[in-house]
Amino acid sequence: MKLGQSFGLKVLFILLLSSFCYSAYAEVDADAAKALAKQNNCFRCHGVDKDKDGPSFIKSAAKFKADPKATEKLLHHLTSGETAKFPDGHEEAHMILKVDDAKEINNLIAWILSQ
Ligand code: HEC
Repeated sequence: MKLGQSFGLKVLFILLLSSFCYSAYAEVDADAAKALAKQNNCFRCHGVDKDKDGPSFIKSAAKFKADPKATEKLLHHLTSGETAKFPDGHEEAHMILKVDDAKEINNLIAWILSQ
């Protein structure tokens, strides 16, 4: 009886773990990413396929495609307020993304990189 119970718990644990891994790595939630970008006014300076003051997200995805540190770099870019160069030559701190949950940032970065 006891053995059966702990076996059941193990199966449950493995199931929970695999569903967690699946949601953490497999899917990009495009709607959530776009909603977050909209809330933060990212689209004021970036189109998905059109350059505005900043490069299009398609261009950024291409730039970081072969970069194994892409996620890390974009995380830094979106959270540190690092200097951004505008087309007219002036520089200012890049906007810092406002989110409640780190998962939302990762989802937005994954979405940008998937363009
Ligand atoms: C006021 C305009 C403005 C806003 C708002 C803005 N950006 Fe940018 N962004 C820029 C500019 C300008 C650059 C180019 C920086 C450079 O090349 O130095 C840039 C660069 C980037 C890059 C490319 C970084 C790289 O290293 O190549 C990404 C990705 C990006 N922004 C995402 C975002 C996201 C996501 C948001 C919303 C949280 C956002 N931006 C909001 C102006 C803006």
